[in-house]
Amino acid sequence: MRSFSRRLLLTAAATTVLPLRPTRAGGLAATPSQTEGPFYPTAFPADSDNDLVQVRGQAARAIGTVLHLQGRVLDASGKPLDGALVEIWQCDAQGLYDHPRQPGRDRRDTAFQGYGKMLTDAQSAYAFRTLKPVAYPGRTPHIHLKVATADGRQLTTQFYLAGDPQNERDFVYRAAVRDPQQRRRIDMRLQPASGLEEGAFATTMDIVIA
Ligand SMILES: [Fe+2]
Repeated sequence: MRSFSRRLLLTAAATTVLPLRPTRAGGLAATPSQTEGPFYPTAFPADSDNDLVQVRGQAARAIGTVLHLQGRVLDASGKPLDGALVEIWQCDAQGLYDHPRQPGRDRRDTAFQGYGKMLTDAQSAYAFRTLKPVAYPGRTPHIHLKVATADGRQLTTQFYLAGDPQNERDFVYRAAVRDPQQRRRIDMRLQPASGLEEGAFATTMDIVIA
């Protein structure tokens, strides 16, 4: 990363036309770190794969709107980080986590896996089939993530629905971003998952770990 920024500086000095913004000199804006929150699983579900909408051995599908969340894990120079462990967890369509601290946990949708993990492939890609997140008391809709790369980098963060009016009242969301360029690292822009799954949405979120 250092040598990359030095190359940028040298290029800028040589040509004097390349605009250099100090916060971007390292390359890509990093995904901001955010609190883990109180609901990271204390015990992992028997099925912990990357399809949270369908629990292995169950006929029922999770209640809610399906979201295909995908992207790549990159360092700040854009280098793919393959073999990174990506974990996600979130509440069900009623706003309930599968967690001992969750009041009303026994009412949760047991067809929703609530937690999933996968390793990035050779293209550094990850993909989850999960739910479009919903709000619960005190929080705007969000998905929690933890990433651990093969070379020892770690990131804990949260993704949000871009433009949701509740975001600006959410204390975690408001505190998340120091550089405005980081906003797109946590704002999910949803598109219809046309051709992939009827009635579902899709979003691409690259995770950048400095
Ligand atoms: Fe949460």
